[in-house]
Amino acid sequence: MSKSQNLGAPDSFALFFKRKSIRNYADTFVEREKIMKIMEAVRWSPSAQNSQPWEFLIIDDQERKKDTVDHCGLNTNRSILNSAPVLIIGLANSKSSVKMHGIDYYLIDFAIAMEHLILAAAALDLGTCWMAWYNEKKLKKFLNIPEKMRIVAISPLGYPKNKKTFLDFVSSKIVAKSGKRKKIEKFLFFNEYGRTD
Ligand SMILES: Cc1cc2nc3c(=O)[nH]c(=O)nc-3n(C[C@H](O)[C@H](O)[C@H](O)COP(=O)(O)O)c2cc1C
Repeated sequence: MSKSQNLGAPDSFALFFKRKSIRNYADTFVEREKIMKIMEAVRWSPSAQNSQPWEFLIIDDQERKKDTVDHCGLNTNRSILNSAPVLIIGLANSKSSVKMHGIDYYLIDFAIAMEHLILAAAALDLGTCWMAWYNEKKLKKFLNIPEKMRIVAISPLGYPKNKKTFLDFVSSKIVAKSGKRKKIEKFLFFNEYGRTD
C-alpha cells in the first residue's frame, strides 16, 4: 500500500477543536430550525444493526424548563442548566438494544448520537455540556418518560456567554480537571499492545 501524500486536513477538523463544554449561556432564544438541523445530524449516526435506539426530549418552554431543572436533583449542574434557554434530555431505549459479547450496544449507540448532536451544535455556534449528574428517577417521573427508556445524558443548549461564572470556573478547573488531555502516545499503539514505534 502506498503512503498517502495528501492528509486532506479538511476544514471540518476545526469542529473537533472548537467544541468544548459550555457552562454559562447568553439569554438568547435558540431557533427551532437550528434544533431540527442538529437532529438531522443525529439521524445519520451509526448504530449496531441500525437499531437507532436514541430519542431526545427538548425543553424550550421556559416555565417547563425551570420545573424540569427543579427535578434534576441537588447538584452543581443546576445553575448551569438554569442559565441556558434550552434543556436536552437524551434517552436510550433499553428494549431495542443489540447485545454482543456481553455488551449492551444501546448505550454506545446513544453516545454516538449524542456526540453528533454536540458537534452539530458547535457547528451552528451553539454550546452544550454533556451531563451525567442528575436524578434519573425524579426526572423520568416528572417528564412522564416510559420505563424502558433510560436517561443517559442531559445537556443545556444555547449561545455561549463569554463571561465565566464562579461555578463555571470551579466545574471546569476542578470537576473537569481543566480539560487537559492525555498525550496521543498514552492511548495509541502500533502493531502490538504497548508498542508506540
Ligand atoms: C458522560 C459524561 C458526563 C459528564 N458529566 C458532566 C456533569 O455532570 N457536569 C459537568 O459540568 N460536565 C460534565 N461532563 C463534561 C466533562 O467534564 C468534559 O467533557 C470534560 O471535562 C472535557 O472538557 P471539554 O468537554 O470542555 O473538552 C460530562 C461529560 C461526559 C462525556
